Amino acid sequence: MSAVRSDFITDYDPLADAWWDPRGPLAPLGWIARARADFVPAVPAARHGPARLLDIACGGGLFAPHLADKGYRVFGVDLSFQSLRQARAHGYDATARADIARLPFAAESFDVVTAGQCLEHVPDPYAVLAEACRVLRPGGTLIADTIADTRAARLTAITLAENLPLPGRPPRGTHDHRLFVNRERLLATARAHGVDLRLLGLRPHLWDGLRFLAGRREDVRMVRTRSTGVLFLAVGRKR
Ligand SMILES: C[S@@+](CC[C@H](N)C(=O)[O-])C[C@H]1O[C@@H](n2cnc3c(N)ncnc32)[C@H](O)[C@@H]1O
Repeated sequence: MSAVRSDFITDYDPLADAWWDPRGPLAPLGWIARARADFVPAVPAARHGPARLLDIACGGGLFAPHLADKGYRVFGVDLSFQSLRQARAHGYDATARADIARLPFAAESFDVVTAGQCLEHVPDPYAVLAEACRVLRPGGTLIADTIADTRAARLTAITLAENLPLPGRPPRGTHDHRLFVNRERLLATARAHGVDLRLLGLRPHLWDGLRFLAGRREDVRMVRTRSTGVLFLAVGRKR
């Protein structure tokens, strides 16, 4: 971590009370969680035995409400103890405090693995992705959303997002551009671990965003963009 900016946030415990504030510094994560859920397949009614979804770096559990009707037993892993408390209070069935680079689970033990807004927070996102692929069963679905290593992403996610005095502004030190994710390397890593990913871009719905800023909306829908050069989502099934 010595190469990252000196104010880079590694401990989310002090932010734990902000997870569920719809106008607070973590609010955009809730918007992205809703978009991510669209890619989680519902568990088929004919399935025998419980289906298991693992959300790595689950934070305060913003993803859980969007999984309620999907039929999974939901597991969450994070380093932040206080955030895991929030996740359990908001619908996660089981949580573990662990480093996502070394998941405490057997190979091929989950039907779905999600990695929301965390690959850009770790020193080796490709190793984390490989670990996510390891615990995913063949035929299972992998979903990861993160930030691309481009100038546009640096301008949007750091220069503008961290500095404009607007509601939903992430804390200074949230991102370091040196940790942003190389899309080609992400695709190659997943492919080498049995998952063919496709990428799609995401951005906030402009009108929703304006209404949010004006205090007339509590959330903002995310819409797909052709460019994956800023915020992007990767989804694929394991062979
Ligand atoms: C930006 S938040 C995203 C949280 C959640 N996935 C979401 O989208 O709302 C990043 C999360 O990654 C966690 N985190 C960062 N590095 C981690 C690591 N090596 N192992 C486990 N969790 C980590 C932080 O504690 C924090 O909760």
